[in-house]
Amino acid sequence: MRFSGLAVAAAGLHLSVVAAQDGSQKPLDSNYGPSPKPEGTSGKQPNIIFILTDDQDLHLDSLDYTPLIKKHLIDQGTLYRRHYCTTAVCCPARVSLWTGRLAHNTNVTDVNPPYGGYPKFVSQGLNSNYLPIWLQEAGYNTYYTGKLFNAHTIFNYHLPYAAGWNGSDFLLDPFTYSYLGSRFQRNKEWPRSYKGQHSVDVLAEKAYGFLDDAVKDDRPFFIGIAPVAPHSNVEIASLDGDFDNIEDLVHFTPPIPAARHAHLFPDVKVPRTPHFNPDEPSGANWVRRLKKQSQENVDYNDHFYRQRLRTLQSVDELVDGLFERLGAKGLLENTFIIYTTDNGYHIGQHRLQPGKECGFEEDINIPLIIRGPGVAPGKIAEIVTTHVDLAPTILNLAGAPARADFDGEAIPLREKEIAAAATTRHEHVTVEYWGFAASEGKLFGKDEKRLILNNTYKALRIIGEDYNFYYSVWCTNDHELYDLKTDPYQLHNLLHSDEEAKVPATFLGVSFDKVVSRLDALLFVLKSCKAQTCVRPWHALHPAGNVLNLRDALSERFDYFYGTQQKKVSYDRCELGYIIDSEGPQFETDGLVYRHGARWDEWA
Ligand SMILES: *[C@@H]1O[C@H](CO)[C@@H](O)[C@H](O)[C@H]1NC(C)=O
Ligand SMILES: *[C@@H]1O[C@H](CO)[C@@H](O)[C@H](O)[C@H]1NC(C)=O
Ligand SMILES: *[C@@H]1O[C@H](CO)[C@@H](O)[C@H](O)[C@H]1NC(C)=O
Repeated sequence: MRFSGLAVAAAGLHLSVVAAQDGSQKPLDSNYGPSPKPEGTSGKQPNIIFILTDDQDLHLDSLDYTPLIKKHLIDQGTLYRRHYCTTAVCCPARVSLWTGRLAHNTNVTDVNPPYGGYPKFVSQGLNSNYLPIWLQEAGYNTYYTGKLFNAHTIFNYHLPYAAGWNGSDFLLDPFTYSYLGSRFQRNKEWPRSYKGQHSVDVLAEKAYGFLDDAVKDDRPFFIGIAPVAPHSNVEIASLDGDFDNIEDLVHFTPPIPAARHAHLFPDVKVPRTPHFNPDEPSGANWVRRLKKQSQENVDYNDHFYRQRLRTLQSVDELVDGLFERLGAKGLLENTFIIYTTDNGYHIGQHRLQPGKECGFEEDINIPLIIRGPGVAPGKIAEIVTTHVDLAPTILNLAGAPARADFDGEAIPLREKEIAAAATTRHEHVTVEYWGFAASEGKLFGKDEKRLILNNTYKALRIIGEDYNFYYSVWCTNDHELYDLKTDPYQLHNLLHSDEEAKVPATFLGVSFDKVVSRLDALLFVLKSCKAQTCVRPWHALHPAGNVLNLRDALSERFDYFYGTQQKKVSYDRCELGYIIDSEGPQFETDGLVYRHGARWDEWA
């Protein structure tokens, strides 16, 4: 198989599709149209600054090492600790984020063509149908600097230019992840090399420059700031080559900090949680076959971890510089600052080498912090939110109506709205992935591979008051179920034969199999859902409207419907992209709807 080196370099970003489950009582179409504005914006459209880091974790404590982000954002804003990406890899995650649609609806499912990357974003018609364009239509000036998508290159950046930006200065492949050899491309100018300068520092100056530009005009502004930290450093040795020989094409190394940060945290190590390089294998499919890492490997990964924390220091300073300028310009009263990342990261958990693309919490549950007028300072929100909720949230802030094809819904920002949403908001996340996983660290074992195939899966997270599950079906038809209430580190896959002894006799008061049957049906809906069905999937199964969450669905009168009648999620084979005929039964054609009073009997 021949792949371009550019595409391979982009292999770091996968989106987990978070499907939202909805416990809401609202009629189905009531949430089109703007929701009430957060207090303090006094009717004027607020400015919005969106900071998007790359591969930043929530679970490996990265936010504990950035005191200025804490000072300006966490202490002055709300941290959404149950925020999820829906595909845990860069390009699909970013496309979902900028369109409000799950990867199976954008069909940008990979970092490189043919299934992903900037060319796929363009060929799917999304360059004329994404957030910056809608914001301009709503009266905003829009600016962006940093990484937009993978496979957005020094060769194709003008084929066509990314639309929707009044000012842009993009990092381009194959130099996107080269911390000391980046190339940026401004507006319609030629790409320019910044060799020798630190990419995040270059980007900070560009971001401040756009802020200066933005305040010259009366219109409200949106500024996207997307530094590459703490992504691994990637150098492309050759632009074209053999996929089987990726080592000759692409060199992954730990991220490279600015010189002034290189000495920091000499003794820090990856948190030694129970799932760090565990004695027993865990997970499913290829993850379960991983060997325990050697001490040499662990030492290297600890170094990798420290390099991530060090590169994040430049982001910390960028944020400080931004707030200094926002304060000096008197903009804090009317500006929302949103901080998140495209997807998470793992290092050593479940014996995994540094990377993402998995469905574990480290990869999908990621930082989201929002500060702005009316947002409660220093709060931690527990509601479930996902990347496909962000475009709806931003459009809502801009006072523009939600779009009918959004697969998510606006995130409540005020404390009172957040509290109210605790009982009405979706409780699920749709997670999906296609293709391969990449090991970004050093390969120690002789048989260890840089790229791991058959990493195609569908999954969901579901978090209610008395349950907290991750459920997945892989293209190999391996299954996973973790009960995160009793197993927060996801060490016991209750659907693996080795873990039978761990399976509880009853789960939520019913048999284990009954819970699994409901989760599988929910996944059946979510894996191909569109628009509102992705937000309220139980409604697709129970159009009568009497089932709003997992708890309701567990009712014994639905046992036959879920246990016997509904088809199960399965795959016919493993594909690298969204090839429908490999993905088993489809709810739209093969699924059953529960009809009131009957067991299943009709499907219209
Ligand atoms: C920003 O771009 C939009 C869309 O092209 C345009 O209407 C607007 O005038 C531009 N703003 C400025 C300050 O040029
Ligand atoms: C991928 O999965 C298929 C089953 O769908 C299996 O036959 C094949 O051996 C697997 N390949 C790898 C590289 O794991
Ligand atoms: C997604 O894109 C791929 C590559 O172009 C194509 O083969 C596939 O059929 C598309 N999937 C869907 C569901 O449209």
